[in-house]
Amino acid sequence: MDFGLTGKTALVLGASRGLGAASATILAVEGAHVIAASRSGSIPAGGSVDNIEGLVLDLSDPASVAALIERLAEQPVDILVNNCGGPAAGPAKGQSVAAWRAAFETMATPIFSITDAALPGMIAKGWGRVVTIGSSGIVQPIPNLALSNGVRGAIAGWSKTLAEEIAPHGITVNMVLPGRIGTDRLAQLDGLKAEKTGAALDAVQKASRKTIPAGRYGKPEEFGAVVSFLCSQQASYVTGSMLRVDGGLIKGL
Ligand SMILES: NC(=O)c1ccc[n+]([C@@H]2O[C@H](COP(=O)([O-])OP(=O)(O)OC[C@H]3O[C@@H](n4cnc5c(N)ncnc54)[C@H](OP(=O)(O)O)[C@@H]3O)[C@@H](O)[C@H]2O)c1
Repeated sequence: MDFGLTGKTALVLGASRGLGAASATILAVEGAHVIAASRSGSIPAGGSVDNIEGLVLDLSDPASVAALIERLAEQPVDILVNNCGGPAAGPAKGQSVAAWRAAFETMATPIFSITDAALPGMIAKGWGRVVTIGSSGIVQPIPNLALSNGVRGAIAGWSKTLAEEIAPHGITVNMVLPGRIGTDRLAQLDGLKAEKTGAALDAVQKASRKTIPAGRYGKPEEFGAVVSFLCSQQASYVTGSMLRVDGGLIKGL
């Protein structure tokens, strides 16, 4: 199926590794010109496509975010995939205000501002796609990931509100919720759990896979394919949605 992305420009945040990288790679394979932003500015490893350029962006640095906002005013994009690194693990009880603020100001407010800066270009063309990578924790909070659960809940509220506001302009706004997809982030979280519980890493991963009806972790490219679909011409009537890519992990409806 041709997703109709040839000639489109896509900005993907947090795109050097993991879910952002997989999304950027598939969008590029589908013909979009992709700007892959991250702190390293590296283009996704193993990508055989040449229509990806790297951009240095640190979402925790207001000056870096301001530079991107300035660039968007001059060089509009058609597609924006919002993504960021995950916050530190930890409980809800006893989290400091500083930790909440740092998580919110790295994961949420920069994404709100960058999206705002991308919208005028999309509105001018009467076409646009905004996809934000979230987490299964929005629907079913994940124990010991309070910062992630809390901040992403706010992002979900923002995304849904924005979807209604800009639907008349031909712009769709959706979220994709990963369950457990095999990336550096998941390896790090499994490693921390092994350390905390004293269990072997292998045992932690085996127990984790057992809770997933599909019986395995997802592959980044399985996730990127769903992001790319939401960016496609075919997904023009999908907006305000949260799509799960979780192998059935979330137990609720
Ligand atoms: N993998 C999963 O199963 C899963 C499940 C639920 C939620 N999530 C969430 O989905 C998001 C992506 O997950 P992932 O597994 O792909 O994570 P990952 O493997 O850690 O990759 C994170 C990406 O974000 C970039 N990044 C990190 N901090 C940044 C910053 N301050 N500014 C700009 N870019 C930054 C990293 O590149 P640089 O280091 O070069 O900056 C990298 O490209 C995370 O928020 C994660 O918590 C993932």
